[in-house]
Order: sequence, then structure tokens, then C-alpha cells
Amino acid sequence: MTKKDIHFSVEVYSSDNELLPVDAELLSAARAITGQAYAPYSNFLVGAVAALANGKTVVGTNQENASYPVGICAERVLLSSVASQYPGEAVNTIAISYHNLNGESAHPISPCGICRQSLSEYEERVKHPIRIIMSGMKGEVYIIEKASQLLPLSFSASDMG
Ligand code: THU
Repeated sequence: MTKKDIHFSVEVYSSDNELLPVDAELLSAARAITGQAYAPYSNFLVGAVAALANGKTVVGTNQENASYPVGICAERVLLSSVASQYPGEAVNTIAISYHNLNGESAHPISPCGICRQSLSEYEERVKHPIRIIMSGMKGEVYIIEKASQLLPLSFSASDMG
């Protein structure tokens, strides 16, 4: 038996003041776009903004439904939009933020399991890592270099040979 260690680093910034201006701008856009979320059931408004390799930005917000499982997270709304508007385009960075109408919005959140799977496949599909910037409306900011770091030992198309 051997053991395999899986390791990745998270950059932790105490606030958006410490970010590069280009990252601070993307995070600011993600915070602003939370206002477009449709989340009357959870009151948890999520905004995600992608900076593409072609210089464009694309936004996504969570879209809920009275039939709860029908709701879609901001990250997957965003990726669907990117793939539809700019097929095959690399995503350099995605900023994710949220506004919790029932509580604090002062710590970073990271994508849910289903969104991690979608983000990993998008990276694989266009052969380009996606940096992720995570933060609430204020407070600490986390940055990781590659979305698939969030989903080690994942199942992917290559497993189907
Ligand atoms: N949600 C997202 O949009 N992205 C995340 O990363 C976490 C959760 C949404 C799903 C649901 O509409 C609400 O937030 C509460 O879970």
C-alpha cells in the first residue's frame, strides 16, 4: 500500500484592498450582479462573473424555482452562458460572491459539488485552467489557481476511455 497526498494552495487576502486591480474589479462586478439573482426561496443571492481570454466578461446568477430542484446555481448559469455565447473560449478567471438576505455575507463561499463537476469539465473541454476568486460582500477573499483543484479524484470523460 502507498499513500498519495493531494495538495493545493488557497491564497487568502484579508479584503479586496489587497487584490490586483483587475481581480478587485471582477469581484466588484460579481458582488453587483448578485442583485440580478432570482432566489425568493433561499434568500441567498449568488453572482458569478467570468473574464474570458478574448477580453469579454459574462455574468451569471442563481435562478431558483418553486419546484426547488429545478433551480440552477450561478456558476452553472454562467458556464452555460459562456459556452453558448463564446463556444470554445477559454475562461481565465471567475469571481463568485453572494448576498445572504437572512444573515451575514462576510466570508468566502466556494462552488457546490455539482458546479465543481461542471467547472472541471469546462477546464478539460477548452484545455485551460480557471482561476476562482471567492468572497462575500466584504471580508476575506480566497483565490485558487484551477477550479478542478476543488474536485480531486474526479470522474471525467477520460474515465470512459
Ligand atoms: N448557490 C449558488 O448559486 N452557488 C453556490 O456556489 C452555492 C449555492 C445557490 C443555490 C441556491 O439557489 C442558493 O444558492 C442556496 O443554496
